[in-house]
Parts: sequence; structure tokens; C-alpha cells
Amino acid sequence: MEKITIAIDGYSSTGKSTIAKQLAKVLGYIYVDTGAMYRAVTLYAMEKGYVTENKSDIDGLVGDLKNINLKFIYNDTIGFAEMHLNNKNVERKIRTMEVSRLVSKVATIEDVRKKLVLIQKQMGLEKGIVMDGRDIGTVVFPNAELKIFMTASPEKRATRRYKELLDKGEDVSYGEVLKNVEHRDYIDTHREISPLTKAEDAITFDNSDMGLEEQFNRILDFTNRVIKKQKRDVH
Ligand code: DC
Repeated sequence: MEKITIAIDGYSSTGKSTIAKQLAKVLGYIYVDTGAMYRAVTLYAMEKGYVTENKSDIDGLVGDLKNINLKFIYNDTIGFAEMHLNNKNVERKIRTMEVSRLVSKVATIEDVRKKLVLIQKQMGLEKGIVMDGRDIGTVVFPNAELKIFMTASPEKRATRRYKELLDKGEDVSYGEVLKNVEHRDYIDTHREISPLTKAEDAITFDNSDMGLEEQFNRILDFTNRVIKKQKRDVH
């Protein structure tokens, strides 16, 4: 079967990773959550004191980037790969509000993006990959056979994220989460390097009023059509 590259971009908390993960499983593809990579670098920057709410020592962080080792390690029990930073599982730590508040700042740093984009391109050399993020269809895999651009209203996204955080036992208010979603949208779309934009050939997918099953079925349908076309073109 012809393997393709699937790029899923979009705003934060649009459920990109849930769909991407499921899709990769059904297709037997590798799944890569690039947001987890930016989050892990942010965690490192926070722990080393390079980045706080009030300060950013960008030169310090950039000089230390070579000491950051990122690895996705598959966890059999939960059925997906978890982020390891310098050989420590940081999957829980990178999903906190504290990291969410600072990650957009770290994701604007050119050298951070260069390092992560290079790793991401290497991961996709053999195709058979579903990668989600903000610049996958535009920068990482501009030639991806299928590009999806996910969107939903900020209120819907904040509601979903708020529920997730409450389930994890975090002490946050809905207002705070909505503000964070809007703030990240602003920074993600206005940064100078690789801002979040829809690739010209991406399919816009608004899931404000769609359940998970419907989303998944529609995206699987797009995928099967592309794979079929690919087969026809090859033979
Ligand atoms: O998908 P996420 O919310 O976990 O991503 C966390 C942050 O990382 C998000 O605010 C923007 C940034 N990001 C990015 O700039 N480029 C990517 N390819 C993925 C994420």
C-alpha cells in the first residue's frame, strides 16, 4: 500500500492530536505531536530559569539547546508515544497551564524552531506519518499529500480544554483558559517566523459542532481518497 504524509495544523485545542493519533493507529502510521516538542523545550527553559512570566533569556536558552534531547517513546499500556526530555518522561509536566502560558513565547525563537523542524523532517523521511502542529503543511512537509487545517470557535475550544484540565485535577477557571486560548491564537498567528497559516492546498475543517466520531470518519474518508488517487497515479 502506498504510504502518504498527513499534515494536520490548526489552532490550539481544536482536537488535532486526538484525531491525528486515532488516524495513525488505524493506518499503522507513526504519529508525531509537535506541540509536545515545543512544550518540552519550554519545560526545560522554565526549569533552567531561562524563561519565566517576566523574563526571557533567549541567548541563554539558545546556547543550551544542544543539551536538549527529545525522544518519543511508545507506551504499550496507553497505546501511544510519550515525550521524554533528557531521558525523563515529561508527558504530564508538559501539559500543565504553566507550560501552556509560556510555550508560545518559546515557540517564537528562531533557533528553537530550526532545531525542532529539522528533527520533524527527519522523522517523515519514510512517509507513513501523521504529524500535527502549526507549520506542518507550510514548513515541515510542504509536499504532504494530505493537509488538514483544523479550526473551531475559541469558546468551544476553551470549554474542551477546561474540562480536560479539571479532569487532571488542575485548579483553573474557564475564563483563564479562554484567555490562554485567545492569547495563544494571537501569538501563534502573529509571530514573525512560521506563523500559523493555512497552507493553500489544505482542507479547512471546522469542528465546532462535530462530535469525535464524525470528525474521524470524515478525515478518514479524505485520507482514503488521497491514498486511492496515489495508487492510481503510481500504476
Ligand atoms: O499543540 P499544542 O497546543 O500542544 O502546542 C503548544 C504550542 O507550541 C502552541 O502554542 C504553539 C506551538 N507550536 C508551534 O509553534 N509549532 C508547532 N508545529 C507546534 C506547536
